[in-house]
Amino acid sequence: MSTFLITGGAGFIGSHLAEKLLDLDEKVLILDDLSSGSVRNIAHLRSNPKLEFQAGSIFERGLLREMVDAADIIVHLAATVGVLNIIESPVTTIQNNVGGTEAVLQAAAKKRKKVIVASTSEVYGKSNEPVFREDGDLVFGPTSKSRWSYASSKVVDEFLTLAYWKEYRVPTIIVRLFNTIGPRQSGRYGMVVPRFLRQALSGQNLTVFGTGNQSRCFTYVADVVEWLLLLAANDKAVGEVFNLGNPEEVTINELARRIIELTGARVGIDHIPYSQAYEEGFEDMERRVPDITRIRAFTGYSPRYSLDDALRLTRDWFVAEKILEESTAFHYGLGQLGGAPRSVRHDKTSE
Ligand SMILES: NC(=O)c1ccc[n+]([C@@H]2O[C@H](COP(=O)([O-])OP(=O)(O)OC[C@H]3O[C@@H](n4cnc5c(N)ncnc54)[C@H](O)[C@@H]3O)[C@@H](O)[C@H]2O)c1
Repeated sequence: MSTFLITGGAGFIGSHLAEKLLDLDEKVLILDDLSSGSVRNIAHLRSNPKLEFQAGSIFERGLLREMVDAADIIVHLAATVGVLNIIESPVTTIQNNVGGTEAVLQAAAKKRKKVIVASTSEVYGKSNEPVFREDGDLVFGPTSKSRWSYASSKVVDEFLTLAYWKEYRVPTIIVRLFNTIGPRQSGRYGMVVPRFLRQALSGQNLTVFGTGNQSRCFTYVADVVEWLLLLAANDKAVGEVFNLGNPEEVTINELARRIIELTGARVGIDHIPYSQAYEEGFEDMERRVPDITRIRAFTGYSPRYSLDDALRLTRDWFVAEKILEESTAFHYGLGQLGGAPRSVRHDKTSE
């Protein structure tokens, strides 16, 4: 049995990792300042005696040190995430992501604890490569465009993480997560799937930013968790960088259509320019596809959930949440928690 410390463990991905580890009878420590996460995400785990939750920041050095010392392995997920957050609070993003990662690495260095650090596919920036390989070039726009501060902060994290391995022999692993989706993901910071689901389930038109011809790859959170567990147990992965993503590609227009079909919502699709959605001169990527040869070779694991599986499971959760939150304002066609709601109607769009 091992003890895992998950920084940001009350967030979307962290809460799924905690759940899986507890299922496997591992001990889980969570340190989370609840800035974007929520105790609600881990409420169903709180009665498990193998879970210890501390509401606090990775900048509380004493607390962090204590928790790192008590852990065998650290999965560092705490960060400021989401494009909207980054544009609105660039200072917080840079400080939290760079300073926070360094704090975790410093604490881990004392006893050379293994650390898995979450980076992002955003680090590939504007690269035009048809698929992104871990050894490919990273291409950013100018520093005057604050959207690049998120990717840059994660790039600095990667350099620091590799430096702690090279210089201090702290066993570190970097994972570049591509868009991850699933239950408990918040739509508050501009993530597209939860945003579309909320819109569809509230009877609002889906708002697609830009032409909608840009494509993305979405990974179901359970696949990411599986990879994290396999990497945690694999000493050969130390000092390496891995793409974690499902290469199945979809345009945002097609994604919107599938979500409308899946929810049965009678809504349309609106297109709004990036300048209105984010800021003047906002730059986005046309495609972003992971090459997952390396993670497959190290773990033998390939994604098990197709995009349709992932959307269906995420929809089921959003439907259940909606029922809890807005039970009076909603009308459902059929079965709720696990069922397939064929018709979801809201007063605005009722026929
Ligand atoms: N979800 C994705 O699609 C995606 C894609 C690429 C990378 N990532 C990375 O994965 C990690 C987890 O992302 P997520 O989607 O679960 O986001 P999330 O916002 O749900 O989780 C981040 C968690 O970190 C916590 N946190 C933030 N700053 C903290 C601090 N200083 N001290 C303690 N806790 C702090 C937040 O409260 C939150 O619970 C992040 O590092 C993110 O950059 C996620």
